[in-house]
Amino acid sequence: MESLASLLLAAGKGTRMKSGLIKVLHPIAGVPMISWPVAAARDAGSTTNVLVVGHQATAVQSVFRGAADIRCAMQEEQLGTGHAVACGLDALEGFHGTVLILCGDTPLLRSETLQALLAFHREQRAVLTVLTALLDNPFGYGRVIRDQAGSVARIVEQKDATPDEEAVCEVNSGIYCMEVDFLRGGIRQIGNDNAQGEYYLTDLVGIAARQGLTCLALPTADAEEIMGVNDRVQLAEAARILRRRINQRHMLAGVTFIDPETTYIDEGVTIGADSVLHPGCQIGGATIIGSGCEIEQNVTITSCRIGNDCHIKAASVLEASELADDVAVGPMAHLRPGTVLGTHVKIGNFVETKKITMGKGSKASHLTYLGDAEIGSNVNIGCGTITCNYDGVNKHRTLIGDDVFIGSDVQLVAPVSVGRNSLVAAGTTVTSNVPPDSLALSRVPQLNKEGWRLKKR
Ligand code: UD1
Ligand code: CA
Repeated sequence: MESLASLLLAAGKGTRMKSGLIKVLHPIAGVPMISWPVAAARDAGSTTNVLVVGHQATAVQSVFRGAADIRCAMQEEQLGTGHAVACGLDALEGFHGTVLILCGDTPLLRSETLQALLAFHREQRAVLTVLTALLDNPFGYGRVIRDQAGSVARIVEQKDATPDEEAVCEVNSGIYCMEVDFLRGGIRQIGNDNAQGEYYLTDLVGIAARQGLTCLALPTADAEEIMGVNDRVQLAEAARILRRRINQRHMLAGVTFIDPETTYIDEGVTIGADSVLHPGCQIGGATIIGSGCEIEQNVTITSCRIGNDCHIKAASVLEASELADDVAVGPMAHLRPGTVLGTHVKIGNFVETKKITMGKGSKASHLTYLGDAEIGSNVNIGCGTITCNYDGVNKHRTLIGDDVFIGSDVQLVAPVSVGRNSLVAAGTTVTSNVPPDSLALSRVPQLNKEGWRLKKR
């Protein structure tokens, strides 16, 4: 296989985003914008990927921490796309082969399109091939100027274009394939004598053409793909398109969406076949959902692992939790991080959990807080039960054995344990450990004063 590397230009601040965060770090469908073109380059077979970074460089680097194929090249001052590529080339010393040049702000570019560009470039033995698009409104983009024979002669930027050139509708996507040997030589010939006083990468096209080298332009079939994100309107538009692609992928893999337009699934989520997603759900953070699950309306799931045949009812929020098969949650339940539920567990409405394990078949059906607890299997937690896990300074654990029955309105003042097969009577405040097979009861004896209301009148 011929060797392939990529340069991704991501040094700019992205002024039009009006943000403290640089443009390429804004999330789209759950991942930073820059991850999208990096994924496209990787999928096209690029094994060395150089990010040209400037503003917030360490934050950009940390997105790819530990990735062996990623290198970063610093561009201290943003003197133009040509200068950015020159900086990036320093990180490709000793590399021979083809370089893909991409922008950090084109998240809609598909790897299939890059592969087609690459195949065309190699077939034609070109030194430079630029991906172009035919736009009804080309304003803002560089225009591709061809000679009488139809060969690409040069690219002219919007701000440098004559009225005749402005009328050209074929635009530069900012995405290129180049032979690195040509690139290394050509980049040194670029000047900055233009309307913006910048080093334009696009000047390479004219340089190649003047030397009689093969320099080509390949119009893309789908102009949508080259859309650059420059402001938050375009950010939302790109996100909508990416979400639609993600949802289609899941649907084709056997997942039912009641209304795909209002279902928000981030990149990196896995969902098994025959699962059903209702409107308004949001699923993110590399969540894995098994097959045959039903996720009802307005459920939010982040970083969870959910087994098969689970039923998550309306308006529940699940964070960093693990559910085995056949678990039912909600409606309106809140599983906070560290919740681990065994098979056939049932968590009902208005139940909040945090850092707990619950064994097979256990239930907490209504209005309960369970935090820092280890709960066995086949346990019934009555309505209104509270683990009093926090004394104002430290958190303490509650242990509940298998087959325990906790009645309604019980407070478990941690640290405390309830031995297996015990029963805690309704209304009890448990302050000391309960041995196995026992009844625990703590109630103030009831006093009835007969006729009391009649005398008051
Ligand atoms: C560029 C092209 C234009 C093309 C358009 C497509 C040039 C001169 N023009 O214009 O022909 O139609 O993209 O979207 O190349 N960057 C750096 N360092 C710099 C300058 C830019 O890293 O010094 C990065 C930016 O962060 C951005 C990318 O390069 O990701 C493109 O830069 P931008 O200034 O947006 O170029 P355009 O004016 O859009
Ligand atoms: Ca741009």
